[in-house]
Amino acid sequence: MKVVITGASGQLGREFQDILDKKGWELFPLSHRDLPIESFEEVLRVLKEIKPDIILNCAAYNYVDKAEDEWEVAFKVNSRGPLNLAVASREINAKLVHYSTDYVFDGGKDDLYQETDEPNPLNQYGRSKLLGERWVLEENSKALVFRVSWVYGNGKQNFIFKLLNWAKERDKLLVTFDEFSVPTWTRFIAENTLKSLKEDLSGLFHLVPQGLTSRFHLAQEVFKLKGLQKRLIPVPSSTFNLKAKRPRFSAMDSSRLQTLLNVEFRDWAEYLKEFLTSSY
Ligand SMILES: NC(=O)c1ccc[n+]([C@@H]2O[C@H](COP(=O)([O-])OP(=O)(O)OC[C@H]3O[C@@H](n4cnc5c(N)ncnc54)[C@H](OP(=O)(O)O)[C@@H]3O)[C@@H](O)[C@H]2O)c1
Repeated sequence: MKVVITGASGQLGREFQDILDKKGWELFPLSHRDLPIESFEEVLRVLKEIKPDIILNCAAYNYVDKAEDEWEVAFKVNSRGPLNLAVASREINAKLVHYSTDYVFDGGKDDLYQETDEPNPLNQYGRSKLLGERWVLEENSKALVFRVSWVYGNGKQNFIFKLLNWAKERDKLLVTFDEFSVPTWTRFIAENTLKSLKEDLSGLFHLVPQGLTSRFHLAQEVFKLKGLQKRLIPVPSSTFNLKAKRPRFSAMDSSRLQTLLNVEFRDWAEYLKEFLTSSY
């Protein structure tokens, strides 16, 4: 099986490389520099040359606050890039897998978000990701699109890495208590992506573990599992005066995918424990 990974040096891209290496699949990990996905000519040229069976699009612009000013870059990477991949993968008859976000929702619901709920992003990042997922599904009916949330893994662009880094310098940390979603390990995403490919699924799915949490409770759990004694102070998200608005509640439900895969996902805290005790 020939697999192209775009955005291969990001957290999810690296996870796929680790997992697929062990499977003995023929991998083509392409970093931002190898393949800037916003260029259709480049995307088509590279994909026609490699002729992959599968394209895992792990490339994204994930700087939620910076995207308020740099929205043109965010739309190039998160909307135009996936559109290019959708069109090119259709042309070469390759299966495209793309990832979106819980930030397509506005947080106004008081229950878990389903695939059928109407998105209404509050920020430019969410708007750029929503357009990306819509273009992929419009242009390529065989594509698979997964919405994931609060992604962590072997990388720096995640809340857990930042938390542990802040803890090196401070004994007292302020963490928001009024933002809720589902922390999702890159290994969980990669493994369930492979299961979905095996079942030849296509369309839009929510892909997160069971349960949900606040950032504050997540921080408590991380420090408990790491055996770190830090003073955690719950504060409202308004304390940080961040540029981009975020949904207060964006936890999603993955029942649809679990039914089709005939699996039961575990609670987010169990994956977190595995991650923090794994050999990254
Ligand atoms: N991180 C989260 O909390 C989160 C939450 C919800 C959804 N997601 C989604 O989950 C997926 C995986 O995210 P992740 O956390 O693995 O992301 P990540 O660690 O930020 O990696 C993204 C990768 O994309 C690359 N990239 C940026 N612009 C590119 C371009 N124009 N062409 C090609 N590559 C480009 C980046 O390279 P450079 O760094 O060199 O630019 C980086 O290696 C993404 O679709 C993301 O939107 C993530």
